[in-house]
Amino acid sequence: MKSTKKEGWEERGARVLLGNYSREPLVFEKGRGSYLFDPSGVAYLDFLGGIAIHVLGHCHPGITHAIQKQAQRMVHVSNLYYNPAVVDLAELLVEKTFADRVFFSNSGTEAIEAAIKLARRYGASSGRYEMISMEGSFHGRTLGAMTLTGQAKVREGFGPLPPGFLYAPFNDFDKIRASRTKNTVAVIVEPVQGEIGVIPAETDFLQKLRRWTREEDILLILDEIQTGLGRTGSLFAYEQYEIIPDILVSSKALGGGLPLGAVLTSERLSKFLPPGTHGSTFGGNPVACAAGAALVRALFAEDFLPERVRSMSSYLWDGLMALKNRYPSLIREIRGKGFMIGCVVSVSAKKIKDLFREERVLVNATGPADDVIRILPPLSISYDETDDFLSVADKIFSSLSVEKS
Ligand SMILES: Cc1ncc(COP(=O)(O)O)c(C=O)c1O
Repeated sequence: MKSTKKEGWEERGARVLLGNYSREPLVFEKGRGSYLFDPSGVAYLDFLGGIAIHVLGHCHPGITHAIQKQAQRMVHVSNLYYNPAVVDLAELLVEKTFADRVFFSNSGTEAIEAAIKLARRYGASSGRYEMISMEGSFHGRTLGAMTLTGQAKVREGFGPLPPGFLYAPFNDFDKIRASRTKNTVAVIVEPVQGEIGVIPAETDFLQKLRRWTREEDILLILDEIQTGLGRTGSLFAYEQYEIIPDILVSSKALGGGLPLGAVLTSERLSKFLPPGTHGSTFGGNPVACAAGAALVRALFAEDFLPERVRSMSSYLWDGLMALKNRYPSLIREIRGKGFMIGCVVSVSAKKIKDLFREERVLVNATGPADDVIRILPPLSISYDETDDFLSVADKIFSSLSVEKS
């Protein structure tokens, strides 16, 4: 039975919050490590991490400390001035990636908007403005990022949409090359498409795309908003594909749980956004940047990357593959990279997600046909937590297989 207090928050929220989200019937008050706690203290194993945010779990001590310290010192100052926290995180990102320069925003979609503007300014002298994105992609909810998103259902009813956006099939280099026009200035790809059902880019595809875009002076933009900050087994997924993008867009986990986005690029391209061309009052907020810097340092200092992420994620993958072998008629495929995993199922993913919730485990249902369970555990999960997750999954699939037979 639900507690009175919990019912109170749900009812009050449903009355006053705009109804654009379909929320689960759950209220959370506290998070620690791999767990979330409801108001009566009941623990839920969180294998979703606020949708790929908490790569080191909830309330990581180093990140919490950095937030507290920065909040006591200075919360906001604007981009009229420098501040140590923003410089520190930018230096770290420059040190750890291909980039020479960083622009900070407050969210993923805003970082995508900045990347679109940078690409358009780059193409302006040659009259090019068109961007090719992948069918099934997701890039955000603001008008530009939404138009870039390769899913008609996301764009539906919001027209007229800005011109200059084309869609081509993911993992199909020849079709992308064929859809290029004289106006094409950039191609944008997620190394692993998350929202459509966790579909990884093929290595050969991304490498061919990189070679061709470079030869044709077309910018290659990687949307690493979901794949970044160690999620796939390296700080950013491009490292594993052995390519260097022209522009990389980051967000989600970047702010250690606080809202933060970033555009990473080269010295050469950075020149296309000179003073006055783009900006954000809050972008590069000192508290969010301090949290982000603590996160990046912890990822390397605590040996998460690459050793621990690789070994823990293969332990989880082995367990999931064993379940797939045990329930072949229910689990069709396990796909993804590192700790970004999609479990393709032959029954309703939403129903399975609800069964997980009843067992106090949080996962997400996605996929075009309600057929993918999305699993995004913290990189810091233990063997015991992984075993707990796998035994709950076993119990659920076992009950479903009895139902099916
Ligand atoms: C790949 C990708 N790009 C962009 C976005 C948009 O980010 P935000 O929700 O922070 O605006 C998301 C969010 O889910 C995403 O997964």
